[in-house]
Amino acid sequence: MPARSAKAQAAKRPSAKNTGKAGDFAARVVAWQRVHGRHGLPWQGTRDPYRIWLSEIMLQQTQVAAVIPYYARFLRRFADLAALAAAHEDEVLALWSGLGYYSRARNLHRAARQIAERHAGVFPNQFDAVLELPGIGRSTAAAICVFAYGAQHAILDGNVKRVFARCFGVAGYPGDAAVADVLWEHADRLVPAKNVEAYTQGLMDLGAGICTRTKPRCDLCPLSMQCVARRDDAIAQYPAPRPRKVLPQRHTRMLVMLHAGQVLLEKRPDSGIWGGLWSLPELAADESSDAVCLTRFGVEAGRISALPMVAHGFTHFLLDIEPLQIRVKKIDPRLTAPGVVWLPLTELQGAALPAPVRRILAALET
Ligand code: ADE
Repeated sequence: MPARSAKAQAAKRPSAKNTGKAGDFAARVVAWQRVHGRHGLPWQGTRDPYRIWLSEIMLQQTQVAAVIPYYARFLRRFADLAALAAAHEDEVLALWSGLGYYSRARNLHRAARQIAERHAGVFPNQFDAVLELPGIGRSTAAAICVFAYGAQHAILDGNVKRVFARCFGVAGYPGDAAVADVLWEHADRLVPAKNVEAYTQGLMDLGAGICTRTKPRCDLCPLSMQCVARRDDAIAQYPAPRPRKVLPQRHTRMLVMLHAGQVLLEKRPDSGIWGGLWSLPELAADESSDAVCLTRFGVEAGRISALPMVAHGFTHFLLDIEPLQIRVKKIDPRLTAPGVVWLPLTELQGAALPAPVRRILAALET
């Protein structure tokens, strides 16, 4: 097993109890996967690390069925690492449009360039080098090394955390470092010496289709005879939910400037929320929409109307967006600021927009 990296390191905690024989656990998962697991997914049956990496990144926050068409489209445009590294970031983001969590796409692109510069364009085959790439954490690096190279590494994504928490009765919220540590210890000790690909895929398949958050199919689970949560009739208690926190509420106003079937969008800075995406301009609390339209965008505002509020939840705060629709009377063509576009409303589909901005624009009656 690899030494734990800085990325995944947490404080030393009590170790996972050795519940049952590791070999039995893995053998049950492998045998079940061969018969009942998923086969023939587009990223299976290849050892190409580029294709496997792309699939693992797309699958990080998105379900298999939603990923499949995006995966095919992405590979048609960027068939290999060199094509991705040579691309403009905007095109990568546009191909990601609709999948959400755009930092994945930006990191993918940055990683492709890093591989071109530091690894002569060849995807690294060592776990530690894979883990160093942007956007790749410990579990994703492990999945890539397992599926591309048949290397022995433990995965622990959100679904697999649920399988282990139930099977071994690991109490507490898996987002806590101490709890995650115990789950990783189980994950590490259970990795089998052979059939690591079927084992890893089996854990993913169990997590996605059998050991589901609600209504798990314990009757179909190969681990049910050794599952602590099932033995204790306490499946709903594992894993423990995130402790509830009251999140701060923020408020912003956004300008929806419309002119000749187009809307004005502004590119957000690369860092921070919605980094690199095209968004609606925001008004500071003390700014008036008329003045901002004119001074920042060379736009003479006409009729202004309030659109329905849109709420959006981030991990650390909740955002209320008050969109103001502005029918533009006149544009000063000399004022075309960099990072600003007038985008035809018919082209919104392919643009890289934050989810709430997409919702605001989709609700426009044009
Ligand atoms: N989720 C994460 N990685 C996956 C994979 N390789 N196959 C199916 N679901 C996944």
